[in-house]
Amino acid sequence: VPVPLQVSLAEKGNYRHFMAKEIHEQPEVIARTLGHYIDVGAGSIRDDTIPVDFSEVSRLSITACGTAYYAGLVARHWFERLARLPVDLDVASEFRYRAQIHPADELPLFISQSGETADTLASLRACKAAGQRLATIVNVPTSTMAREANVVLPTLAGPEIGVASTKAFTCQLATLAALAVKAGVDRGVLTRDNARGFVDGLVEAPRAVADVLHLEAEIERIARIIAPASTALFMGRGPSMAVALEGALKLKELSYIHAEGFAAGELKHGPIALVDDTVPVIVVAPFDDLFTKTVSNMEEIAARGGRIIAVTDARGAHAIGTTAEEMIVLPDAPAFIAPLVMTIPLQLLAYYAAIINGTDVDQPRNLAKSVTVE
Ligand code: G6P
Repeated sequence: VPVPLQVSLAEKGNYRHFMAKEIHEQPEVIARTLGHYIDVGAGSIRDDTIPVDFSEVSRLSITACGTAYYAGLVARHWFERLARLPVDLDVASEFRYRAQIHPADELPLFISQSGETADTLASLRACKAAGQRLATIVNVPTSTMAREANVVLPTLAGPEIGVASTKAFTCQLATLAALAVKAGVDRGVLTRDNARGFVDGLVEAPRAVADVLHLEAEIERIARIIAPASTALFMGRGPSMAVALEGALKLKELSYIHAEGFAAGELKHGPIALVDDTVPVIVVAPFDDLFTKTVSNMEEIAARGGRIIAVTDARGAHAIGTTAEEMIVLPDAPAFIAPLVMTIPLQLLAYYAAIINGTDVDQPRNLAKSVTVE
């Protein structure tokens, strides 16, 4: 949908593009979204804004499209680790045509910025018709999905104009993280003290994201390495795999560079055949329990002349040393919020690669903000 001129002049502020503005709004809108779900003073999740009792749920089914799907892919790790809650996850265009089971003890959860995506809405309606109680994480409060879901969990990102999703994604992650902590408490997996530890970590997210935005000039410089490439690879493990997939999607949407994201452990099962000294490989490598595995994959790439751009934190940078040609070193943050923090440099890399390549950042060719037809 084209943006009316008055709106664009009024709302773009001092930014060249809506996308830049939306990237920079993230500390504020993540804080606002977290404030909705978290009682910061008490260090706990607010029960009133998440009307779901996860002790009655034995399986979560997450369905979404595009970037919202990647939010689900991150969150699967959180629900499984923090709440021992099995998660079924699919893109809506696949989910709706699978032989659906609709178990009574399953909670279907639909994630959507617009709340209007045709496949996601059709999937929601299929679950509703089967009699399931369902929840949605949605950014547009007046949307069809918000109206039709039993439980509406809003992301408070505000209107997102750039076609490629940025602030809606990180607000989806913030909401999902709060939800996973609540699920952990409800299911007796997390004690109140454990939960407080995760909540304290989440509360650090807005500041950590703001710190990453201070690295913008450095990230712009590194984007010059990516912009001339015809293919770029993105890899990571665990939650960072989902972040890598989202990073690849952002780059291809915005700069039209072919980009592929994959699980670092799959490197030898195909992607390594593409590695040479013209292919940038962006590695999402927070210093977490999978870090050393990811570093060995980096070494395999370096040995074949691949150009590694590592996105890591201060502790990781020390261990990566000279294996990477470039490093984007983020401030140390709790491992739990790494997906939120590590997403920011990938958004900026895609943004600057697009600017260098002269593509239309806010309205990339052939893409729509909201895909309302199948
Ligand atoms: C389109 C947009 C993406 C978005 C996807 C899902 O492809 O360009 O940015 O992630 O739709 O949209 P939704 O509104 O359901 O999150």
